[in-house]
Amino acid sequence: MSTVVGGVFTSHVPAIGAAIAKGLQNDPYWKPFFDGFPPVQRWLQQVKPNVAVVFYNDHGLNFFLDKMPTFAVGAAARYENADEGWGLPLFKPFEGAADLSWHIIEQMVESEFDPTTCQSMLVDHSLAIPFELCWPEAETWPVKIVPIAVNTVQHPLPSPARCLALGRAVGRALDSWAGNEKIVVMGTGGLSHQLDGERAGFINTPYDLFCLDNLATDPDALVKQSSLDIIEQAGSQGVELLNWIAARGALTGQVEELSRNYHVPISNTAAATVLLENKALVAA
Ligand code: DHB
Ligand code: FE
Repeated sequence: MSTVVGGVFTSHVPAIGAAIAKGLQNDPYWKPFFDGFPPVQRWLQQVKPNVAVVFYNDHGLNFFLDKMPTFAVGAAARYENADEGWGLPLFKPFEGAADLSWHIIEQMVESEFDPTTCQSMLVDHSLAIPFELCWPEAETWPVKIVPIAVNTVQHPLPSPARCLALGRAVGRALDSWAGNEKIVVMGTGGLSHQLDGERAGFINTPYDLFCLDNLATDPDALVKQSSLDIIEQAGSQGVELLNWIAARGALTGQVEELSRNYHVPISNTAAATVLLENKALVAA
């Protein structure tokens, strides 16, 4: 039987990719951020998941404003990284867990979600940078992936409650998967940030801490507001929190926070990293 071993939640700021390429992990600006990762890396090395289900948002690389699925699931055998304009080095390609993708898609539809299915798909910094942070020494990625893109970019955005319900539907699909995989769930983006407009540089630490304090124990507390409310609280890109909410929903067991890091700012972002362990609930 497959098991969902836990969740990794992290910011995906493109400048992190440039810092890695330049070896700046111990630079005083970057160190407080990179210091959040050794516990995550050690846990991944111990637990050795072999599949990652990644909730992220595409930033105009694979989907542009003319075609914007609310939820899209990759069902490819392989995914190439590409750079939508940050000048980043290209990251290693990703092997897809296409059989698990189709199981998730079927179960999502069964749960009355209607995703766009993508048998070819490029993945941007939002998926690749978390992998570089989690497995910095890997020559090839030790996990196959199922990418799940959430629209956090163009209105109308899905509601936070809908994203949590989507994650829970994915979690049920993972729990019913007959394979033997060890599955890690990932949620990328956030926390509070706004890249442009009058509030460019906006960060809201009290709201970020509210999200961090409730992620493991009471994710429903994060979905009482609308996505527009989250934009007001966390900035127009801070609504990438929807990816975290969906990923948290996919952890259906007893969830324990193993590590947390929060550092302000990294580029324009309140950068956070959280590791949650998921213990299967044993029926009484
Ligand atoms: C930044 C953050 C993001 O989430 C992103 O996609 C691009 C840039 C930033 O803070 O620079
Ligand atoms: Fe982003």
